[in-house]
Amino acid sequence: MADETITITDNRTGKSVDVPIVNGGIDSGALRSLAPGVWFHDPAFMTTAACSSAITFLDGDAGILRYRGYPIEQLAEQASYLEVAYLLLKGELPDAAQLEQWTHDITYHTFVHENVKKFVDGFHYDAHPMGILASTVAALSTFYPEAKNLNDVACLEKQIVRLVAKMPTLAAFAHRFSVGMPYVYPDNDLPYSANFLSMMWKPRSGGKAYEVDPVLAKALDVLFILHADHEQNCSTTAMRTVGSAHADPYSATAAACSALYGPRHGGANEAVLHMLQDIGTLDNVEPFVQSVKSGSGGRLQGFGHRVYKNYDPRAKLIKRTAEEVFAVTGYNPLLDIALKLEEVALQDEYFVSRKLYPNVDFYSGLIYMALGFPMEMFTVLFAIPRTSGWMAHFMEMLQQESKIARPRQLYIGVDERAYVPLEDR
Ligand code: ACO
Repeated sequence: MADETITITDNRTGKSVDVPIVNGGIDSGALRSLAPGVWFHDPAFMTTAACSSAITFLDGDAGILRYRGYPIEQLAEQASYLEVAYLLLKGELPDAAQLEQWTHDITYHTFVHENVKKFVDGFHYDAHPMGILASTVAALSTFYPEAKNLNDVACLEKQIVRLVAKMPTLAAFAHRFSVGMPYVYPDNDLPYSANFLSMMWKPRSGGKAYEVDPVLAKALDVLFILHADHEQNCSTTAMRTVGSAHADPYSATAAACSALYGPRHGGANEAVLHMLQDIGTLDNVEPFVQSVKSGSGGRLQGFGHRVYKNYDPRAKLIKRTAEEVFAVTGYNPLLDIALKLEEVALQDEYFVSRKLYPNVDFYSGLIYMALGFPMEMFTVLFAIPRTSGWMAHFMEMLQQESKIARPRQLYIGVDERAYVPLEDR
């Protein structure tokens, strides 16, 4: 269509270029040829599509999230996490034989080299498990040096299987170390999420036998599905950026974990729980909201999103899952505070006008708490399933004709000046 273009005019020269709009974007190369040395200034990628991707569709205004075209609601209700991981990584849902093979492969790779335990043992007694996870996943690259052969597709696929399989093991080891409990090896008779719960809690303190409750394992599996991918978020961008340098998948995953660790990203669910505990009673909800609005109370954690300007569809599903979990684990009074906080905020002009709605982190922390996870594990619980999404992007990036990520800058420092010897300063 003739008018599906944007015209850029350089008023210094009077030259113009018509740039076609393709898939909702315009090629920045047009500016490069029209005005060499002039750059788009977009520090937080507010207006920049850093890649084309066929993995996840997200419409933040309409509150829509789809993996490979499948609505997140249908996947959360009907699929298992491993099925979804396969979908993200391979592009299609597996048939029965493919799922069986995939499940077998993942299960077969759940164990980590015994020396990994020595790394974990070396951490300070109160080390944050997310720091342990990021470090040990990076260390895996030294156990599988062939992983740097990114051109060998079969080799790369093996590393993906290893990563998806071993993340729960590393995560559980990190927790067991922090509470001074012996590491629990994977039980490969159990499905993925149940196996993780088993490594976390077996045996209960006092040596009591631990049976995985199927309702809780299912709830965790749903949470894993909801966290598996979210297109170009901060950690996925880190993954693609580091991957564009052709770092091996373990090192790139460690970088993505580090991005996820931040409280503005995967650390927010931990912040939500601290916030709910600080609020403490229902009477304190309204004063707290006022303090957020006046700027003295910080941000309302678990609210707002760079992309969603509507209710995060994952938050809706998580709210429902929370009710199922509480039916088994018993009621948590912090839920009432969260519900009231949501109600008050969603009626308040400050939040309405800024389109601030609950995001995925608002209720997920409450479920994790009900499942018995300490707060320090919340971001780790995010990293486990996100590994399949990160790797899907890593693979897609390699398959595309990608260059190393190397943005430009607008230099705003001092102009050239002569070095001043120390005695003259
Ligand atoms: N509480 C109060 N005010 C908020 C909040 C919040 N949670 N989020 C945004 N605002 C306000 C800002 O103060 C700003 O107001 P102003 O226009 O008067 O200055 C306006 O809304 C826009 O906010 P930005 O910071 O520009 O929005 P941005 O898209 O950069 O930030 C973010 C998104 C970081 C998620 C932000 O909403 C936030 O800090 N939320 C709380 C932390 C959180 O829940 N993070 C999890 C995100 S989901 C995830 O990563 C899994």
